[in-house]
Amino acid sequence: MTTDTEASLVSGGASGLGRAICLRLAARGDLVTVADRDGTGVAATVDLITAAGGRARPVTLDVTDADAVRHAVAEADAELPLTTAVACAGIALPTSVLDPDLSGLDRTLAVNVRGSYAVVQAAATVMVPRRSGSIVTIGSTSSFTASSTPMLAYDMSKAAVRMLTQAAARELGPHGIRVNGVAPGTMDTPLMRGLGADDAGLSTLAAARIPLGRLGLPAEVAEAVAFASSAEASYLTGQMLVVDGGWLA
Ligand SMILES: NC(=O)c1ccc[n+]([C@@H]2O[C@H](COP(=O)([O-])OP(=O)(O)OC[C@H]3O[C@@H](n4cnc5c(N)ncnc54)[C@H](O)[C@@H]3O)[C@@H](O)[C@H]2O)c1
Repeated sequence: MTTDTEASLVSGGASGLGRAICLRLAARGDLVTVADRDGTGVAATVDLITAAGGRARPVTLDVTDADAVRHAVAEADAELPLTTAVACAGIALPTSVLDPDLSGLDRTLAVNVRGSYAVVQAAATVMVPRRSGSIVTIGSTSSFTASSTPMLAYDMSKAAVRMLTQAAARELGPHGIRVNGVAPGTMDTPLMRGLGADDAGLSTLAAARIPLGRLGLPAEVAEAVAFASSAEASYLTGQMLVVDGGWLA
């Protein structure tokens, strides 16, 4: 199954969408570096990949530590030249414009914006000299439209991830590097459950707001990441692939 030619690194690979992305990229033969602050989750993802016959490397890091990200990317690249990097780590905290406490804003921007930037920056550094590689960010429908509940900082952060994707695609295109994003709609992951969503609430939301009438599956986001980072997507850059069951339609 493995080809020994492709290697990827996924931040946020210990849970939810990031884990599904790790499994998908490993299934196509990549040696996957699973990077996350949750070491136990990282080990569980690595075990799942190994059990399925794939190859994976664990790295425990916090994406707000840009030096740690650069170090992890350089180490992964030294093992096997990195062909795909995915900036998936993210948090979602309820934040309101009426709240005078800005700590939620600071934390959200640090992880979702600065952390994504750090992954893109580190990946570009090792890919540019080879003039080859693909970077994928994870945005959200919030990259395009505000959430229906007060999630001001999250919405701002995901709009920034869209512009990070576009601006990096412009800068890195002449170097032969493609940068795209995947923008999921409402997916059933620990992040969504952490916002207090229960089965009944999610079913009501799906019926009311999502044309396909259901939440998305992490594997459906992973498939879009696999395409965006594949050779078949060789003329795709600067795009956000919206995987939302029609939410934004
Ligand atoms: N679940 C959804 O409905 C949904 C929708 C749109 C976008 N997204 C985005 O998808 C991405 C993954 O979300 P998810 O639903 O899988 O969430 P999740 O909570 O299941 O997974 C997020 C992962 O990121 C890791 N992480 C958080 N902060 C980190 C940090 N500072 N350093 C390193 N790792 C860190 C967590 O440990 C966790 O493993 C996020 O960027 C999120 O904003 C999710």
